[in-house]
This record gives sequence, structure tokens and C-alpha cells, in this order.
Amino acid sequence: MKHIKVNDLLNGSNLLQEVTAKGWVRSFRNNQFIALNDGSTINNIQCVVDLDKFPADLLKKVTTGSAIAVKGTLVESQGAGQKFEIQVNNLEVLGESDPEKYPIQPKKHSLEFLRENAHLRVRTNAFGAIMRVRSVLSFAVHKYFQENGFYYVNTPIITGSDAEGAGEMFQVTSFPLDGSAPKNEDGTINYKEDFFGKQTNLTVSGQLEAETYAMALGQVYTFGPTFRAENSNTSRHLAEFWMIEPEVAFNDLDANMDLAEDFIKSVIKYTLEKCEDDLNFLDQRLKDEEKNKPQAERSEMSLIEKLNFVLENNFKRVSYTEAIDILKASKPNKNKKFQYLIDEWGADLQSEHERFLVEKHFKCPVILFDYPAKIKAFYMRLNEDGKTVRAMDILFPGIGEIVGGSQREERYDVLVEKMKALDISEEELWWYLDTRKFGSAVHSGFGLGFERLVLFVTGMTNIRDVIPFPRTPQNAEF
Ligand code: 4AD
Ligand code: MG
Repeated sequence: MKHIKVNDLLNGSNLLQEVTAKGWVRSFRNNQFIALNDGSTINNIQCVVDLDKFPADLLKKVTTGSAIAVKGTLVESQGAGQKFEIQVNNLEVLGESDPEKYPIQPKKHSLEFLRENAHLRVRTNAFGAIMRVRSVLSFAVHKYFQENGFYYVNTPIITGSDAEGAGEMFQVTSFPLDGSAPKNEDGTINYKEDFFGKQTNLTVSGQLEAETYAMALGQVYTFGPTFRAENSNTSRHLAEFWMIEPEVAFNDLDANMDLAEDFIKSVIKYTLEKCEDDLNFLDQRLKDEEKNKPQAERSEMSLIEKLNFVLENNFKRVSYTEAIDILKASKPNKNKKFQYLIDEWGADLQSEHERFLVEKHFKCPVILFDYPAKIKAFYMRLNEDGKTVRAMDILFPGIGEIVGGSQREERYDVLVEKMKALDISEEELWWYLDTRKFGSAVHSGFGLGFERLVLFVTGMTNIRDVIPFPRTPQNAEF
């Protein structure tokens, strides 16, 4: 008999029929009520066993974490808490789980403890919900772009270029690390003899390659793993994260902002519709967490309210220069916990500045644009003032930067000059420069850090808790 997913059993369509369910035991109460979960929903199906029907040594094996199959009749439940339950006629323990050794108990574990058990944490309610939401969000990403005429491009993971020019790359080599790699006369490694005949690294962004595709297919997007060897020991950084990078020919910066805002709202809306149970659970989880905080630090809105707030309000669009004026005029708050002051035009914004703008000043998502050229990447379109570029960062409450993007420098001469000034090799990026030589046109795009979006939608606060197996400094377990 084919087993039926718990999610389907719980809608009652098999009422009074004989059904089979398979899953993992969450708890076994009073030797009578098994809470069974199979991952198809956050909800468990209650399986009622009649003590006399089953041998005691079989029931002893029904422990938290064990895998079981039950066969029985789906009936309306008399007890509170669930509408339907299975009256078990047949019970099979498929895989035992020693309760003395199984790390996940039916109680609240700390997130730190669960991180050390990343292979098992998905068996908890919270991580089950987070990972289902993550999956739905990634489908929503593809759905949005596919329905809006974008093509999905797979850009290389191993590349020879540093798209962001920040030097935060993990190197890739086929040479052994025992010092035997061939050397140049000056003692440096001779990469000409390496697998690719040149120095290569894991990609920090698929943007440059995506640009070349946008200049032929018109509208493209990437959605793939991205690697950065930066100091990622924060709650917002991973060494390996997933980035979504749309790139659109003939879009200027305003159109780029419109696209980003519409895209973000659309994927959140879809996920709100599809993940009601999981998001309600995460909403309640956050409410419980908030209760432990002092009144002043508690969030004014619940998770669901925050998500709806984003859908219902325009993102505030503010130039970097305006933002600096706001920061200059702001006073540090009384207990000096925060120091918002920034005295200099041209300085890069620190996360406390971003948080002030979003959480204290505008109290909504903010798109900051027209940043000083000096603090942004080489490929951004220089403005007429000669000192700012058509960059945009989207800042979200509780998250900070969620999107970084720009209109690209489409003028060959200006781009080459910029590369020279920054010592970026024209020879290595000859293919990138070709897009400016042949049929160049205005174009724009952005990168959205997928995990930061998952953070926002799930209300979690540490990025390590929204990717199955986080890669951070000193941590590549599993
Ligand atoms: O602002 P970034 O560095 O922009 C780019 O890489 C551009 N090439 C994107 C483009 O225009 N196509 O990164 C984009 C986004 C950030 O806003 C952030 O959300 C995320 O990627 N991000 C990270 N997420 C997790 N861990 C990290 N270490 C991240 N670094 C960037
Ligand atoms: Mg950025």
C-alpha cells in the first residue's frame, strides 16, 4: 500500500479509509499517542495505538527520532489540537533511534547546539519550516524571472577574473600543496603549467559573464553559489552563499530599482501564500523570543506584519548624499549605545549607519543610490558630476544590505580609463571589454544575497541558520 503524505492526510480527504503513513517519531506520549512527522508539513499526524494490540518490546522501539510506518484508519480526532488522527492497526519500526544517544529531544534546543548538528537540525520544527520556506523562495525566484521574460544563465563557478575587484577569492589549483608546484624565476608559482594555464578562483559574482549574455538575450538572471574569502565571521556573511543576479539590456538605474523592488515584493508575496503554516510557526517563534527581550528592544511588528509591510509600502529611494546629510544631522542616542554620526562625504557606510537609516529614520526598506565612485566597483556607470556612480544598495530592516547593484559603465573609453586607474588588467577582461566595443548599450543589474532574503522572510537573525550547511571561517564540517 502506497503511503500518503502527512500534509495530505491532514486535509482529511481520506477520512474513514485505511491509510499508510511513514515518517519520524517526534514524540510518543503515554504509550498511546505518536506524533509523526514526514517533512511534508510542520504539522504532525497523531497516531493512536492501542496498547493491548502491540507487543511491549515493539512499542519500546517507538522513540523520538525513529522511523516508522503505520497502517490504520483515518478518523476525526476527539482530542483537541488536531482534526484527524490515525487509529493504528499495524505498526512497523523501520529504523530505531537510541533515545540515550539521539541528540534531538522533544524540547527547545539552542541554535548554537543545533548548528553543531546541522545534519539533524532539519528534524526540528523551526529548521523544517526554514528549509521549506527556503525551497519555496527559490522556486519563486525562478517563477518571477521566467514569467517576466528572463533567461536563466549558468555562469562559471571557476573563473579567472575578480568581478568585484575586492581580492576576496578562494584560489583553485590542481597543483599539490607540498611545495612541488612549478615556479617562475622569481619564485612565484608558474600557473601556466596549472590545469587551466592561468591563476583561477571560485567566483565572487557571475555579473561580468551575465552582462555579456544580457547584451544578446536582453534579460537574463543567474542563481548560483558564490564564494568569498572575506572575514565572514558575522551573522550576515557566509563564505559560500547563493546569489541571484539579473542583468537587463537598456535598463537605466531607475528601471533597475523598479525591477528589484517588484522582484522582492513578488517572491515574498508568493511565499506568504504558499507557506502559511510554516510562516505562522516562525511568527510565533519570534513572538516567544521577543518576550525574553527588554520592552525597548522588542519589535513593533510581528514577522507576518513585517512581510506585509514590505509588500504594501514603497521602498524609500534616497541618494547617498542625502543619506550623509541625515546621518550628519542625527544625534547619538542618550545611552551612547549607537553612534550614528558620520562626518565625511565619501566615507563608506557602516552597518550601524545603514541600520539607523532603515530602522530609526525611514522605518522602511531603503534604496540608496549614487554612491561615491571611490567606494564602489570599477564597472559602475560614472555620473555627470564625475564623482558619483549609478550604484544602488537596498537596505532592509534587521538585515542591512540585501541587494547591491548598478547601471553599468557602457562607454568603452571611460571603462578602460577606470580599469587603468584601478590597475585592472585589460588583457584579462578583453572579453568583457568586447561588449563595449560591439553594440554597447545602457544596461543594469543587481545581486541579491539569497540567504539574506531567507533571513528576512523567516525572521531568523543568524545567516548560519538559513542555509543547510553553512561555510564560515573555521567551519566546513559536514
Ligand atoms: O554587493 P555585492 O558584492 O554585489 C555584487 O557582487 C554585484 N556583482 C552584484 C551585481 O550587480 N550583479 O553582493 C551582492 C549581494 C549583497 O547585497 C548581499 O546581499 C550578498 O550579495 N552578499 C553576501 N551574502 C552572504 N554572505 C556574504 N559574504 C555576502 N557578500 C555579499
Ligand atoms: Mg555590496
